[in-house]
Amino acid sequence: MKDGGKRWLVPAAVAVLLVPLAKIAWDGARDGLGANPIEAVQNRLGFWAITLLALSLVPTPAAELLRVRWPQRLRRVLGVTAFAYALLHFGFYVGVDKFFDWPTISQDLTKRPFLMVGFAALLCLTSLAVTSTDGWVRRLGYPRWKRLHRLAYLAAALAVVHFAWRVKADLRRPLLFAAAFALLLAARVPGWLRRGAGRVGSR
Ligand code: HEM
Repeated sequence: MKDGGKRWLVPAAVAVLLVPLAKIAWDGARDGLGANPIEAVQNRLGFWAITLLALSLVPTPAAELLRVRWPQRLRRVLGVTAFAYALLHFGFYVGVDKFFDWPTISQDLTKRPFLMVGFAALLCLTSLAVTSTDGWVRRLGYPRWKRLHRLAYLAAALAVVHFAWRVKADLRRPLLFAAAFALLLAARVPGWLRRGAGRVGSR
């Protein structure tokens, strides 16, 4: 059996990835979100978006450097769930925090750099999620699709800046994410160099 019996991996991952959302709903239902529940929900959704974005970047270096291949099957589900949390984070800001007050929202998004950067990260994640299907891989061709999906690192950088801007004084958590993303990017370099050398050698 080619799949090694791991067909359960993606459904199991989906179930696990819904746990933070269920926990937010649970805490909300029993008044467990603290003094400012809107801020708490907003921050938790943002935190899970950036965390899942980081996790979605683990499978490729894990396969290249450690020869561990099963996490590759989780790459898409992790990326799409990161996008879903980011969209909920944005949706919560629009619907609950600002109550669909579009003039204020558009002013916010164009005047507050912290939100502009978050919006740019969301746009990157949207283009990654839309093109995450097999159909888009075929349509773009694998090399172009792969180049486009390097946008994940730009999304990560923008999300870290957005996070750092929001927390202002205590930069420990954003810096931890920045270090994790830098490490994940560095882990890709040997693979890029190897493939680059292969291309030069085959000329
Ligand atoms: C248009 C898009 C976005 C808007 C309007 C937005 C808005 C916000 C707001 C208002 C907060 C602060 C909440 C508060 O303290 O009251 C926040 C925090 C945060 N956002 Fe966003 N955001 C956006 C996109 C993103 C994206 C794409 C990510 C990650 C991929 C993200 C990750 C975070 C994180 C990590 C925090 C801080 C969480 C914490 O302090 O624990 N945001 N965002």
